[in-house]
Amino acid sequence: MKKKQVGFELSIYDDAYELSQMEQKLLKEAELARENAYAPYSNFKVGAAVLLENGEIVIGNNQENSSYPSGLCAERVAVFQAGAKFPGVTIKSIAISATSNNYVVDKPAGPCGNCRQSIIEYEQKQESPISILLRGEVGPVFKCNSISDILPLAFSRSFLGDS
Ligand code: THU
Repeated sequence: MKKKQVGFELSIYDDAYELSQMEQKLLKEAELARENAYAPYSNFKVGAAVLLENGEIVIGNNQENSSYPSGLCAERVAVFQAGAKFPGVTIKSIAISATSNNYVVDKPAGPCGNCRQSIIEYEQKQESPISILLRGEVGPVFKCNSISDILPLAFSRSFLGDS
């Protein structure tokens, strides 16, 4: 039996001003998008902003539903919209920002498992990494260089055997 440590590099910025200009802009877009989330049930608002290789930024926010499972997370609204509007254009990065009506979100909220899987589909397809920027409402910014860093042993189309 062998054991292998699996880890990844997480960059922690105490303040958003430590980010590049483009990263700051992307995070700002996610913060703006978050304000238009439709989250009357959880009161937890999430915004996502996707940066494409052509310089376009596509945003999304969580869209809830009275039939709870019918809602969708901000990240998937954003990446699916990017895929629909700019098919085949490489995704460089996604910024995600979260806030709550009930408390101050002072640490970054990582994307849920379904969103990680949805994002990694694009990373696998384009064969280049999608970096992830995470921030709460205040507090530090976390940066991962690739979605695969936070979804080890990911499922992919290669398992389906016909591609
Ligand atoms: N949510 C997101 O938008 N992204 C995530 O990665 C986690 C959760 C949303 C879904 C729901 O509208 C609310 O946050 C509470 O779970």
